[in-house]
Amino acid sequence: MATNLTDIYTGVKKDDANRRENDFYPTPPLATFVLGKYCKPPKNIVEPCAGRGNISKQLQRMGHNVISYDLNSYDNCLTEVHTPYDAMKLQPQFADGVVTNPPYHKDLPRKLAEKFISEYEYTAMFLRITFLEGKKRKKLFTNNPPSDIIFLSDRVKFSSDHIEPIEKEDQIGGMIAYMWIVWDKRHSWSGLTKMQWVTLENEYEEFRKTV
Ligand SMILES: C[S@@+](CC[C@H](N)C(=O)[O-])C[C@H]1O[C@@H](n2cnc3c(N)ncnc32)[C@H](O)[C@@H]1O
Repeated sequence: MATNLTDIYTGVKKDDANRRENDFYPTPPLATFVLGKYCKPPKNIVEPCAGRGNISKQLQRMGHNVISYDLNSYDNCLTEVHTPYDAMKLQPQFADGVVTNPPYHKDLPRKLAEKFISEYEYTAMFLRITFLEGKKRKKLFTNNPPSDIIFLSDRVKFSSDHIEPIEKEDQIGGMIAYMWIVWDKRHSWSGLTKMQWVTLENEYEEFRKTV
C-alpha cells in the first residue's frame, strides 16, 4: 500500500517486492497505437528508455524510423536497443522527436521531459495521470504547456507475461490510469492544451490490423 506522495505517484512503494527492477514496465503496443492515431509523432524518433523496444516496435510498424537506447540491457529485445546509455546524458540525435514511457525513480519523468522539450520539436511521454499534480511539475507545465493530453479511459495492463502482448486481454485491464502527454512544437498553437479521451477497447480492432 502506498503511504507517501512519491509512492502514490509511482503506484508502488520504493521497497515494494512487486516493484520491478529498473522500473521495467514494457508498454503494450495498443497504447503506442493510440498515440500514433491521435497525436501523430514525426517520422524520425528517439526512444531513450526503450527497455526491450516495445514502444519502438509499434512505432516502426506504423512507419516511423526509431533509434532506441536504454541504461540497462534486456534479453529478447524486439528491435535493436543501444546500451548502456543514461537518458539524462544522451546527446541530441538526428531525429525530430522523442517518444517514451520513462522510469519513475529520482523524479526522472519530469527531468527527462524538461531535457527533451528543450532539444526536440516533439516529445511524447506515457505517464500516470497523477503526474499532472505536484509543485515541481506545475512549474514544468506552466513553463511548457503540453500541446496534447490523451487520457486512457480504460486501464492498460502491465502484468502480461508476453514479451510483446498482442491479444486484447493481455493489454487491457490494469490497475493504474495512464495518459500520453505531448509537447508538439510543429504547429502554431494557441497555448491551450488539447485534451482527448480514448478507450483502448474501442481502438483494439484497428490496432490489430497493424500487427
Ligand atoms: C517503464 S520502463 C519502459 C520501457 C519502454 N520505454 C517501454 O515503454 O516499453 C522504463 C525503462 O527505463 C529504463 N531506465 C531506467 N533508468 C534509465 C536511465 N537513467 N536512462 C535510460 N533508461 C533508463 C529501464 O531500464 C526501463 O527499460
